[in-house]
Amino acid sequence: MGLLSHVLLFLFLFTTSAESADPSGEFCNTDTNISSNQTSANIDRLLSLLVSGTVLNGYIATSYGKAKDQVYGLAQCRADVTGKDCSNCIEDAAREIRKRCPNQADARIWYDFCFLRHDIKDFFGEVDTGFGIIFYNVENVTDPDTFNKELSTLTDRITSQAVVAGNKGNGRDKTKLTPFLTLYALVQCTRDLSPLFCSQCLAIAIGNFPTICNNRKGCRVLYSSCYVRYELYPFYFPLDSDTTNASKDYHVSVFYKP
Ligand SMILES: *[C@@H]1O[C@H](CO)[C@@H](O)[C@H](O)[C@H]1NC(C)=O
Ligand SMILES: *[C@@H]1O[C@H](CO)[C@@H](O)[C@H](O)[C@H]1NC(C)=O
Ligand SMILES: *[C@@H]1O[C@H](CO)[C@@H](O)[C@H](O)[C@H]1NC(C)=O
Ligand SMILES: *[C@@H]1O[C@H](CO)[C@@H](O)[C@H](O)[C@H]1NC(C)=O
Repeated sequence: MGLLSHVLLFLFLFTTSAESADPSGEFCNTDTNISSNQTSANIDRLLSLLVSGTVLNGYIATSYGKAKDQVYGLAQCRADVTGKDCSNCIEDAAREIRKRCPNQADARIWYDFCFLRHDIKDFFGEVDTGFGIIFYNVENVTDPDTFNKELSTLTDRITSQAVVAGNKGNGRDKTKLTPFLTLYALVQCTRDLSPLFCSQCLAIAIGNFPTICNNRKGCRVLYSSCYVRYELYPFYFPLDSDTTNASKDYHVSVFYKP
C-alpha cells in the first residue's frame, strides 16, 4: 500500500495513434526551473544532437555546454523500432519536450516508440524509478491463475534477454495461453544502464504487474530507466499476423516518489 498511497488515478480515453505527436506522458520537474538563458540555449543545442545522434543506432547519451550550464541528454527508441519510425519519434519528442517543459532543466517524455530526457545533472547509468506512469486495460483476464503464471515465466525469460550484451537492453517474446490467445511482452532498459541496474529497474517495473496491473488484459509501466509492457495482442516489431483488436479503453495512473 506504500506505493499506492502515492498513486493518483484518473480516467483517460486512449485514442492516440502511432502517427500522432501526442506522447504517452511527460514529466517537467518544477524543482529545476531554468534560470539562465545559456542553459536554455544549451538544451536547444543538445536536443538537435539527440535527434541526429539517434539516426544510426536508435540511442545516444551525451552532454553539451560547460560548467554550470552543461546539460545532459538521453534519447532512445525501443530496440524493435528502427529507421524512420525511430527518427520520427525522436523528432516529435525533441519538439514536444521543449513545448511542454519550456522552463525545466529536468524534463522527460515518453512515447510508445521512444523516450527522451534532459537535465543539468549527470543521470547516466543511474536507475530512476521515482516518476512513473502506468497504463492498464480496464478489462480483466478470465483465468488469472494461469495468466499470472505464464506472465511471470515470460517476463523472467525476456528480462534475461534484456541484460545480454548486444540486445540493446531489450527482451521481447510471446507465449500461447490457449490455442486462440497469445500473450506478448516486452521489456526495455535505457542503454546507459549496466546489466545489474537494468535487471533492478525491470524488477521494480514488473513488480507493478501483480499490484496495479492486477489481472488486467494489458499493462504498460513507464519509468525513466526502463519500460515494460504486456498485451494479449501483438504490439512489437515484427508484428504478427494474428492481430486481434486492441481495447482502446485505458486507465492511467501517475505517481511520483520524491
Ligand atoms: C517553478 O515554476 C513553476 C511554474 O512557474 C512554479 O509553480 C514553481 O514553484 C517553480 N519552482 C520553484 C522551485 O521555484
Ligand atoms: C534572457 O533573455 C531574455 C529575452 O531574450 C532577457 O529579457 C533576459 O534578461 C535574459 N536573462 C538572462 C539571465 O540573461
Ligand atoms: C476488473 O477488476 C477490477 C478489480 O477487481 C474491477 O474493479 C474492475 O471493475 C474489473 N473490470 C471489468 C471491466 O470488469
Ligand atoms: C475487429 O474489429 C472489426 C471492426 O470493429 C471487426 O469487424 C472484426 O471482426 C474484429 N476482429 C476481431 C478479431 O475481433
